[in-house]
Amino acid sequence: MAFFTNFLLPLLLLATLSPTPALSYLSPGARKWRDATDDSSHRTYIVLVEPPRSDASEDMHRRWHESFLPSSLTGDSSEETRLLHSYTEVFSGFAARLTEAEVGAVAKKPGFVRAFPDRTMQLATTHTPEFLGLKNGAGIWSSADYGKGVIIGLLDSGIYAAHPSFDDHGVPPPPARWKGSCDASRCNNKLIGAKSFVGGDSGDEVGHGTHTSSTAAGNFVAGASYKGVSAGTAAGIAPAAHVAMYKVCTDERCDTSTILAGMDEAIKDGVDVLSMSIGSDSSISFELDPIALAAFSAVSKGITVVCSAGNNGPARITVTNDAPWLLTVAAGSVDRSFDASVYLGDGRRVDGEALAQAAKPSSGRHPLLYSEQRQFCEYGGDGSVVAGKIVVCGATTSRTQVSDIHRMLDAGAAGVLLSSLQFSGYTTVLRDYNSSVVQVTAADGKVLRDYATSANNVVSVTYNNTLLGVRPAPVVAWFSARGPSRIAPGILKPDILAPGLNILAAWPSKTKSASGSLNVISGTSMSAPHVSGVVALVKSLHPDWSPAAIKSAILTTADAVNSTGGPILDEQHRKANACATGAGHVNPARAADPGLVYDITAAEFGGYICWLQSTDAAMATGAAMDSSLPCGELTKITDAQLNYPTITVPLRPTPFTVNRTVTNVGPAVSTYTVKVEAPTTLAVHVSPETLSFTKAGEKKTFSVSVSGHGVTEQELIAEGSLSWVSEKHVVRSPVVAVVGIGSPPPAP
Ligand SMILES: *[C@@H]1O[C@H](CO)[C@@H](O)[C@H](O)[C@H]1NC(C)=O
Ligand SMILES: *[C@@H]1O[C@H](CO)[C@@H](O)[C@H](O)[C@H]1NC(C)=O
Ligand SMILES: *[C@@H]1O[C@H](CO)[C@@H](O)[C@H](O)[C@H]1NC(C)=O
Ligand SMILES: *[C@@H]1O[C@H](CO)[C@@H](O)[C@H](O)[C@H]1NC(C)=O
Repeated sequence: MAFFTNFLLPLLLLATLSPTPALSYLSPGARKWRDATDDSSHRTYIVLVEPPRSDASEDMHRRWHESFLPSSLTGDSSEETRLLHSYTEVFSGFAARLTEAEVGAVAKKPGFVRAFPDRTMQLATTHTPEFLGLKNGAGIWSSADYGKGVIIGLLDSGIYAAHPSFDDHGVPPPPARWKGSCDASRCNNKLIGAKSFVGGDSGDEVGHGTHTSSTAAGNFVAGASYKGVSAGTAAGIAPAAHVAMYKVCTDERCDTSTILAGMDEAIKDGVDVLSMSIGSDSSISFELDPIALAAFSAVSKGITVVCSAGNNGPARITVTNDAPWLLTVAAGSVDRSFDASVYLGDGRRVDGEALAQAAKPSSGRHPLLYSEQRQFCEYGGDGSVVAGKIVVCGATTSRTQVSDIHRMLDAGAAGVLLSSLQFSGYTTVLRDYNSSVVQVTAADGKVLRDYATSANNVVSVTYNNTLLGVRPAPVVAWFSARGPSRIAPGILKPDILAPGLNILAAWPSKTKSASGSLNVISGTSMSAPHVSGVVALVKSLHPDWSPAAIKSAILTTADAVNSTGGPILDEQHRKANACATGAGHVNPARAADPGLVYDITAAEFGGYICWLQSTDAAMATGAAMDSSLPCGELTKITDAQLNYPTITVPLRPTPFTVNRTVTNVGPAVSTYTVKVEAPTTLAVHVSPETLSFTKAGEKKTFSVSVSGHGVTEQELIAEGSLSWVSEKHVVRSPVVAVVGIGSPPPAP
């Protein structure tokens, strides 16, 4: 086979592209991530090579990979440290520390496919199960046995194994196919795997991995609360599923080469679900992204890969982890508030929130102070000005703000009302400042600033602890990244919305408490593990379903509206569009029984990659992914024709037709009739309009024609939906028409 050996061009491309990926949570104090290079001229490269014989042992793989290293290195002791990882499952390849000249030499060796410079990425509950309709002893928790027998692997910052969320009461031993090992301080039937790829042990110095693991599969913990708020029984979404932690991030960095090592191990170990709350600043072509390729390998092996959509919203075209074989999760609010009501002297009330609730229920009445000099809470050293007053000021992302706020309080300020940034709308990302700090929305901040200019103004704060049933909910959080995808605009991304704002879950602790430490944090890092838990529940009921079928089940049963039938809103309280919510808000109970699924085989995803990419690149990635799927033998499949459970077409006046095939996974004999909902500007025709099934597993194909009329160029998208409706099921797909897509993929 002739492989793509002109590596210089892609390397140059990569050097300029290389965005910095991260754990996808919002950490105001997070350090800036360093570049993956170091002081020396060596840097880490991920090198794809032709696979050795299919029966090659791990040792033979390693020796084959070592044979690519420059000969001056073989036999000398530095070789050991030069070859960082040898990959066998995600693709055939390795990570090594090389100079640019050495990469040049490696590229000349027969069997070389492609080299990627390493990149640094960032790490992107008591109530959320109930909010998602999960009830102890009933519904899908009961029918899916709480996710029993399913293994969720997490690529994250490690795990605090002693936390009561990882007790194994009610969890059976792992299935016999499990091959992994566990190096944690406590391993049991809940925590069956733990391994560090960043040196040290698998403990969690960040907290992120403990939080995401307990969200996906934490066991029931009674009396869980955060500093007294939100008391209740905490549980993850799949409380009986097994957890395997692959520690690939430290508090400073997650490198691609390390993430790949974790994925390689997870595939070998036999996980069913891979949960990845890690993201980068921007998406890059799948062919240049070894993580997308590795995830494709995982999906081809039947593993569902769930990823955070990223926190770069609310602007369009910010979604990351956007390959069609991934399940990409956006973040929304839940119907809970950590309420702190601000009463104005004129009788008005502003509903703020405080994560640290005050011990005494009210602050007493104090004059309200606002000044241009401290509009962003600058302290300035003038203690007498703030003493005895409640100060209203605007939040920034600056780290000095926290210390300024504390200095104001130390100087005797009675409180601080911190107003969020304009673009965050109604989203308040809570942070544990101090019980005297109340966070309010930007709009409420303006109300307070205006009131501060009136004579004899006075305010007081009343703490109401945790309020449930807050409306409207869910609301898309401002930071949740939006579609369309830059790389694949013809596939709707993100796929789904799940809770990711102010999520309470397990946290490492130095002190042992019966209920364990908890923390409230936000990000698409928090929404992804909710969906990983749902995948585990569906997988537990349907162990033979492909990742695409599981995704279809979750997408076609998602809620398009909130619990009172109103549209799901975005952070500005406008109707959220499909580029913010995907198919809608996840509904675990319905996902277990979708009726019909839109399935996609690995070969079909391969056909899509071959269509998307240049021939050379497709050959390279095809070789890397699975040598049995060369592009020459695959039918190319366009984005619009991929059997995706959502439908995205170009917005134009002439009809654009796509075909879809559904598989009957409901009652053997069933009849579905189509129901189309669309604005007058969008004509959607489905043919045939009725699908009759007589067997389980039977497939039926239909076509959908979409045309837009009288839509102005300003409206970038128009959306409707098509649903297949039977007596027992509604199988809904959003139909999204987007301006400016639908041309062939760009030339390389
Ligand atoms: C809040 O700040 C005040 C003033 O610095 C301090 O006395 C108090 O202990 C702080 N409260 C909490 C919960 O940190
Ligand atoms: C908070 O509590 C006060 C006093 O009990 C009550 O008047 C107010 O309505 C509560 N606020 C909310 C948002 O429920
Ligand atoms: C549902 O959304 C509508 C607006 O779209 C809102 O008025 C209503 O309060 C919401 N209901 C809930 C339960 O959040
Ligand atoms: C869609 O299906 C119809 C009927 O099977 C077929 O004639 C048509 O070629 C298909 N269209 C595409 C774009 O595959």
